[in-house]
Parts: sequence; C-alpha cells; structure tokens
Amino acid sequence: MGKLIIDTDPGIDDAQAIAYAIAHPQLELIALTTVFGNASIEITTRNALAVLEKFDALDVDVARGASSPLHIDRFASPDFVHGDDGMGNLDIAPEQLIENELSAAEYIVEAANQHHGELTIVAIGPLTNIAKALSLDPQLPLKLKRLIVMGGTVLAPGNVSPVAEANFINDPHAADIVCSQNWPLSIVGLDVTMKIALTDWHFEELQQQAGGVGEFLWQSSRYYVDFYSSLPIPISSQRACAMHDASALVYLTNPELFEMNSGVARVVTSGVAMGQLISASLSENYLLPHWQNLPPIEWAAQVESEQVLNHFTSTLIQHFKP
Ligand code: RIB
Ligand code: CA
Repeated sequence: MGKLIIDTDPGIDDAQAIAYAIAHPQLELIALTTVFGNASIEITTRNALAVLEKFDALDVDVARGASSPLHIDRFASPDFVHGDDGMGNLDIAPEQLIENELSAAEYIVEAANQHHGELTIVAIGPLTNIAKALSLDPQLPLKLKRLIVMGGTVLAPGNVSPVAEANFINDPHAADIVCSQNWPLSIVGLDVTMKIALTDWHFEELQQQAGGVGEFLWQSSRYYVDFYSSLPIPISSQRACAMHDASALVYLTNPELFEMNSGVARVVTSGVAMGQLISASLSENYLLPHWQNLPPIEWAAQVESEQVLNHFTSTLIQHFKP
C-alpha cells in the first residue's frame, strides 16, 4: 500500500487511526498534516506531535494546516465529544518533536511531487488542507495514488445535522471541491462507521496486550465512550464508540471488507442541508449544470464490522505488544 499521509484533526478517534497506520506492516506513514476540527489547529497540532511521541514514531513529520474553513466561520470545537484538549482531557503535550517548516498544503504538494504516483492521502478531518493543496497544484489528483476520505454520509443520518457529518459540515466548500476532482476518491462515511463499534472489551484487550499505546487508547477512549453512551440511540448493546477514522485506514489495508457504491457526488455548501453529501448514480445524466461533468467517486455502503474491528485490534497488539 506504500507511502501515506494522514490529514487529521486529533481527536480521540484520529489517534486510533494514527496508531493503526504506524502498526500496519504494509503502511509507511511519512507525515501527519493537521487541520482544525475536533479542536483548534493549535491543539490538534500539539496532539499530533504528542501522539507520535507516545507511539514512538519520531520519524513521522507534522505539518500544520488550516485554522479555519475556506469560506464559513469555524464552528465551536466539539469539546463535549473529544474534551477541551481534543484528547479526552488527558492534556498530552510533545516533549521533543517540532513541526515541519512547511504548511500542510505545501507539504502535501511537495510530497506528491516527490513520491509521484506512490502517495496515498487518508483525510480524517475537515478537507480544507486538501482543497488548499489543490489550489497550489491543480494537477495534484493526477499525482496521488489515491485519496481516501473519512466523512460524509449518503443514506445514514448525519452526526451534526440530520444530513451532515462533522468533517464535511466543518468545511462544506472544501468537501464539495474535493468531490469534484478527478482523483481516485473513496469516501468512508457514517453509512459504515456508525456500524463499527469499538467496545470497552476491545479497549480492555488493547490495554492488556498493546503496551503503553494500548493503555493510552484505553485512557483517551473513556471520555469518548461516555459521550457515545449518552446518545439517545446507542450504537451497541455494550459501552462503545464509533470507530470513524481508523475504519478509513482499515479500508485502505482491507478493502474486501467494504462494499462500495460508485457514483458522482456534490456537497451542499449552505442552508439547512449544509454539509450534506449527495451522490447520484453514474447512469443518470442530470442536465442541471451542477451535475454535469462530475468525475466518478466511490462511497462505502456496507461493511464487515467484526472483521474490521479484529483487523484493527490484532494489528495494534501485534505491533505494540511489550
Ligand atoms: O464524524 C466523525 C469525524 O469527525 C471523525 O473524523 C472525528 O474525528 C471528527 O473529526
Ligand atoms: Ca478526525
């Protein structure tokens, strides 16, 4: 699968995804590019540096990205989901790692040119950095191996509004720009991630068998599982949280566990449906200009949840066991 950049807003579930990318033997994580979202850019960048130190991944670069969306005002950070510090109020901080001198967008463009055709980007936060990288280099879609996005929802309810998922509504213009480019683009949204429930049993397995990383993922998950346990419709019969971000990485390593639908896509950029991901079948030919000349994308419609969870936990235990 090769070289990988994760564009991220750590973020409790982002840390789970980062741990998986470090642990998987076929992934070479070269950088985290940070973005606002689960917390301010200052906090998400601090968390990115700190988790890399906790995961002993000192060779991974961190490039700071966007502090706000392209055109709308930034929403307040969801501290009720990820805590005031974006990491379950563990207040982690880096001790030695420092940020790269390039911005996230500059780093993405430079890496895509350096690793032409070999670089995969998995975006697990608002898509502002990806949109800015496109502005710097409109040829970016032709230089990447692929782009995988955790975000959006087509048929399942949204988690911020009835139709909008957090990463997409946090910067709907960036999401719409990304969906209209000719990448190989795969979207892993709430249609599948709300069916992938990391339970306290999984976190106890990690805590007992995945060394210090397992302990950290257990500690940081407490606040997150409490939030999900407070929802009116529980995602599991056990105390659990949705494995949003790491599922996008498991899709990269084990696509056979996901059923993908093909289509074209737009994202609503204003009004009551702002942030909504709308996908149309490739066989339709809508005459409205908004729906003309759109490139094909694919979005995850079904998933083998238990196998995804098993891959996640076994990969982390295999790599991080003492
Ligand atoms: O809707 C879930 C997404 O929003 C995840 O990426 C989570 O980290 C938040 O960024
Ligand atoms: Ca995220």
